Amino acid sequence: WRPLLGARRCGRLRPRVPGQGAPLVRRSSGDTPDPSPFKGGPSWTRERTLVAVKPDGVQRRLVGDVIQRFERRGFTLVGMKMLQAPESVLAEHYQDLQRKPFYPALIRYMSSGPMVAMVWEGYNVVRASRAMIGHTDSAEAAPGTIRGDFSVHISRNVIHASDSVEGAQREIQLWFQSSELVSWADTAQHSSIHPA
Ligand code: PPS
Repeated sequence: WRPLLGARRCGRLRPRVPGQGAPLVRRSSGDTPDPSPFKGGPSWTRERTLVAVKPDGVQRRLVGDVIQRFERRGFTLVGMKMLQAPESVLAEHYQDLQRKPFYPALIRYMSSGPMVAMVWEGYNVVRASRAMIGHTDSAEAAPGTIRGDFSVHISRNVIHASDSVEGAQREIQLWFQSSELVSWADTAQHSSIHPA
């Protein structure tokens, strides 16, 4: 498959915290959770999800809007690449749908042009991103969601997001090599508008 943008470049950035590239998901109960990012709140498990702007979303120049929504929500982008997805990867990605009548058309459409695959990290990011993208069927998608704002048909629904923590782990490993993911955190050094 053919990454068109940035995959290797992402891998070259130096990580700011340990654990670069790990397909980060909910930890087992014996592990120590990260400290809470919310003052006085419960400790939390860092979670990652796969989000993909589908070929129709790329054609309609919606990539920037999608990124902006996730950034403004407070999630952290840890991996991104543009690629024309090979059918073999799509077949694995959609393996549970092989018997659905729409499966051949879905694979044709998903491989018809470039898509942008991203990995986003944050508190409850899997559940939150499903809410942000909206119902699969555009007719049911609420205004304010990505599909509710931009999509008119289920077969051209702009965006994909993993539907579970386990699904996210599987999909991230399918679409990204661990070296293409960058763990990073806000630092005082970089959050200032003016350089020191
Ligand atoms: S299903 O039928 O309940 O398993 O489908 P669902 O979980 O809602 O959706 C699974 C993915 O199939 C896509 N889908 C379709 N694509 C094209 N045409 C039709 N009619 C169609 N119905 C469902 C849907 O967008 C989901 O893909 P992702 O990539 O997860 O959005």
